[in-house]
Amino acid sequence: MKNQNSLILAFLFLILHFTTTKASFGVGVGVGGGVVWIGGGNNNNNQNPKSYESPTSKMDSAYSVLQAWKSSITDDPLKILDSWVGSNVCSYKGIFCANPENGIASTTASASVVVVAIDLNHANLQGTFVKELSLLTDMTLLHLNSNRFSGTVPETFKDLVSLQELDLSSNQLSASFGFMGSKIKEILFLNNQLTGCIPEGVGLFTEMEVLDVSFNSLMGHLPDTLSCLQNIEVLNLAHNQLSGELSDIICSLRSLANLTVAYNFFSGFSQQCSKLNFRNVGFDFSLNCIPGRIMQRPEPECSMIPGGSLSCLRIPTPKPLVCGSMYVSASKNTDSTSQSHSP
Ligand SMILES: *[C@@H]1O[C@H](CO)[C@@H](O)[C@H](O)[C@H]1NC(C)=O
Repeated sequence: MKNQNSLILAFLFLILHFTTTKASFGVGVGVGGGVVWIGGGNNNNNQNPKSYESPTSKMDSAYSVLQAWKSSITDDPLKILDSWVGSNVCSYKGIFCANPENGIASTTASASVVVVAIDLNHANLQGTFVKELSLLTDMTLLHLNSNRFSGTVPETFKDLVSLQELDLSSNQLSASFGFMGSKIKEILFLNNQLTGCIPEGVGLFTEMEVLDVSFNSLMGHLPDTLSCLQNIEVLNLAHNQLSGELSDIICSLRSLANLTVAYNFFSGFSQQCSKLNFRNVGFDFSLNCIPGRIMQRPEPECSMIPGGSLSCLRIPTPKPLVCGSMYVSASKNTDSTSQSHSP
């Protein structure tokens, strides 16, 4: 299963690489993207969605989904959606199909192919997301960098159980932290209009390798559940209004390669964070409020911390927190620096 997916992905990357001009992939996406946030409550394990629906009906369903989405698009200056006519969704611009058995890409809809990716980076589309998009359960990539999508990410996106890369950078998406499938490896939400706390549900994405929510308006303290992201390599929280202390449980994440928290209001960091540079982990904490460190904000800015009274760790959750399947509330006891002031 894993190998099959990698094959499809590898193939897709090849195809996408040659058929789209401005697509941006992977970690190298430039600063200036941005998007919405994804929290999460449900830990839907993939129940092999490929088996319960016949491929033909999947194509019919993809057709309805994409037509529903198309009708919610209010501006398409590049006329990209002009190609979205007829039942062969595999020929639509930005829609990529492949045979899940062998990973071979196809531009013809047939019983043996499914929609595996949507790449509409830089399409400049204006509109919203329709909840029907969550029916595209074979989709592994959703790239919508640099469009004008607004509103929120529908909660039904948690049903996108195959999704590994979500790039919603540089849109106009707002506060709602919705839900995502737990298989996701990469979330790029930079440069949107996210506000409020980073949701504790972020800890459910235990496969996550890249999380970039820079250039938003997130506030308050970081949730302890970030410590669940044992595979995280790149964590970019820069250019928000986050505060509190950066704690050991984040700085000791074992796969971390680059931690960027510049341009926030952090007031300190713990021992493991000071050691990051020795571990060869890129660590940029400039322009925060950390006493005794160079390149910090001027004092007056630090006396008015945005959302300062907001302690995100105290947000009541309807059910116990889990890291994948493991309870994490116990981890608070081991963290001497964690912020747990009562509101
Ligand atoms: C770390 O990430 C930031 C933001 O994504 C990037 O600007 C910087 O170049 C990266 N540093 C290293 C050492 O990779």
